[in-house]
Amino acid sequence: MVDVILGLQWGDEGKGKIVDFFASDYDIVARFQGGPNAGHTLYVDGKKVVLHQIPSGIFHQNTVNLIGGGVVLDPVILKKECDTVASFGADVSKNLFISERTNLILPTHRALDKASELSKGDGKIGSTLKGIGPCYMDKTGRNALRVGDILNKNFISQYIKLRLKHQKLLDNYHFTEDISAWEDEFFEAIEFLRTLNIVNGEYFVNNAIAEGKKVLAEGAQAAMLDIDFGTYPYVTSSSTISAGVCSGLGVAPQKIKDIIGITKSYCTRVGSGPFPTELHDAVGEELRQIGSEFGATTGRPRRCGWIDLVALKFACMINGVTKVVMTKADVLDKFENLEACTAYDIDGKLTQEVPFQMEGLNLQPVYQTRKGWHTDSSVLKKKEDLPKDMVAYIEFINNFIQAPIKYVSNGPGREQIISL
Ligand code: GDP
Ligand code: IMO
Ligand code: MG
Repeated sequence: MVDVILGLQWGDEGKGKIVDFFASDYDIVARFQGGPNAGHTLYVDGKKVVLHQIPSGIFHQNTVNLIGGGVVLDPVILKKECDTVASFGADVSKNLFISERTNLILPTHRALDKASELSKGDGKIGSTLKGIGPCYMDKTGRNALRVGDILNKNFISQYIKLRLKHQKLLDNYHFTEDISAWEDEFFEAIEFLRTLNIVNGEYFVNNAIAEGKKVLAEGAQAAMLDIDFGTYPYVTSSSTISAGVCSGLGVAPQKIKDIIGITKSYCTRVGSGPFPTELHDAVGEELRQIGSEFGATTGRPRRCGWIDLVALKFACMINGVTKVVMTKADVLDKFENLEACTAYDIDGKLTQEVPFQMEGLNLQPVYQTRKGWHTDSSVLKKKEDLPKDMVAYIEFINNFIQAPIKYVSNGPGREQIISL
């Protein structure tokens, strides 16, 4: 069977930490979408590691890791990541597999991402500029190069054909930056990629399931950045929700068992786009400082605000979430009161539905105030230790979103998690 861990907000909920925590219970951890726009932070022997494309199970000797067909892969970044994880003792020759169907991010995809963002003026997405959008466009446009293609003799001619197509688009954008250095490192990285375990990903996963092995699918980004259900057009270009597991790994829906959604105890967003509960005041700044809310991939300060239960409930609905993990509970330790958004006021009308389009609306969050717990929760070890006001906050959320919080994460460390 397959369990899934995915983000329920705008990303950076702590998916990497939680996947790492559960990974030893699984035979395979598989990324099913996204690419190097993701930054998943985990701690190995107390040292911080940020993974972008390699699944967060890589530090568990008995767990193999698959980069699934739904991922867009930058081989240059992969090569660097492989060096990093090897320095922490991971063995990629034994524990990392890549699907033949995984799409390749070319240097020109990165250039196109940059050119496209520049052309948007005030309407910038705030992309990580890793080439994600242009690569998925080539996938759906039926032009893409895939990992399996690098094993073919005609790979170079396929590359040149696509590169010429991209050059015309770049010329249209008047993009003149010299990317020949990017191409040199790309081909070096392709040589390296050829040495890794390239597999038929669908059979890899389904044969394992047939043998009774356990698979954990690891999501990147999150529901509100989903290409179909996020705050479009301020979204990423992939299916970040549980449905994406089926198309990204080639597993059938009935093989999926638990869908574990991750939410912070408050809310953040990095990049542009609607964020109803965003705080532009001292409280927002306090959340950013206490929560160290700076992007794991780009270093950008994250926008911070109170938890948005309307969006969270929507995310649970479209994902079919069976269990929730609430991370960063410790970040709220010092707050006197906590606000939780339980409705949107749109032009004086209250709603508990996420509107089709949030941009340009006169939308105000409606809050219910909850009591803070004023306890150092980062040192707590078990359910019985939790302060009663934190338990009340959790119960309030459970009731609203109609899904149970089963774990509370109370610090970035591997052991800082409490089962409820
Ligand atoms: P991901 O993209 O969902 O994997 O999340 P990121 O790694 O981008 O961001 C989460 C950040 O919060 C990282 O710096 C984690 O080390 C940190 N983190 C995760 N869980 C907790 C927690 O419970 N408390 C605190 N204080 N930090 C956490
Ligand atoms: P993880 O997996 C937070 C955001 C970008 C931008 C938008 C589109 O670490 O949670 P893209 O590079 O995909 O063209 O960017 O999506 N974004 C993320 N925000 N966490 C992420 O991943 C993100 N990946 C993309 O900031 O607003
Ligand atoms: Mg992240």
